[in-house]
Amino acid sequence: MILRVEGLGRRYGDLAALDGVALELQPGERRALIGPNGAGKTTLLNLVAGALRPTAGRIDFAGRDVTRMPPARRARLGIGRTHQHPAVWPTLSAADNVLVAARRPWGRLRAGAREHLAAVGLADQAGVTAGALSHGQRRQLELAMALAGAPRLLLLDEPAAGLAPPEVELLAGLLAALPSDVAVLLVEHHLDLVYGFADRVTVLHSGRHVHTGTVAETRRSPEVAAAYAGVKP
Ligand SMILES: Nc1ncnc2c1ncn2[C@@H]1O[C@H](COP(=O)(O)OP(=O)(O)OP(=O)(O)O)[C@@H](O)[C@H]1O
Ligand SMILES: [Mg+2]
Repeated sequence: MILRVEGLGRRYGDLAALDGVALELQPGERRALIGPNGAGKTTLLNLVAGALRPTAGRIDFAGRDVTRMPPARRARLGIGRTHQHPAVWPTLSAADNVLVAARRPWGRLRAGAREHLAAVGLADQAGVTAGALSHGQRRQLELAMALAGAPRLLLLDEPAAGLAPPEVELLAGLLAALPSDVAVLLVEHHLDLVYGFADRVTVLHSGRHVHTGTVAETRRSPEVAAAYAGVKP
């Protein structure tokens, strides 16, 4: 098991953004995390990455209790992530963004940065400043930056948000080509992408776990239909 989350909770005053959630991921597993707006998906990713501290529960990564570990140490242990709103350094080139994200000596990594950019379809944009890239390309760049940290777990927060249909197709190809030993927790509203990618799907609603199952089980789950009722997925 690469990730085990138990009884995880995060409160904001009276609001339980996440409430007693349990989750286990195997090495290399492709898991999607879905649920309507405000379900707690980003909160869960932030708790696992360490950007937020839980108000209840425990997080184990690769056999270690990381519940109170700062985010940079979790990243070094192998937790990589992308953000709902792409976080890149706009004045740095695409290649330098990858180098900074890799947190290792620059010189011998130049070639590696280009490889990571090529892996996300940005080989020709290595010298372009990130601020000059399209929204879709910034999402691709963030993925390259996450991969540069050699993650064992990749947390992806709505990588398809704001992408045009051809860009979503490109993204589906990139996700399918991710290293098979990297576990992926994919938060996404684009259900075609989710169902094409995931081994299993976990559904949150109002901060609570309502379902985990295969894609087929998820498609016919009444709990999932109820969670989405009246809410555009
Ligand atoms: N800093 C905060 N202060 C107060 N409430 C917050 C804060 N961050 C998140 N919340 C609330 O916690 C709940 C879960 O939010 P979260 O961002 O995790 O949802 P989500 O599932 O990622 O939604 P979306 O699909 O819209 O991105 C929401 O009700 C949200 O308003
Ligand atoms: Mg979110």
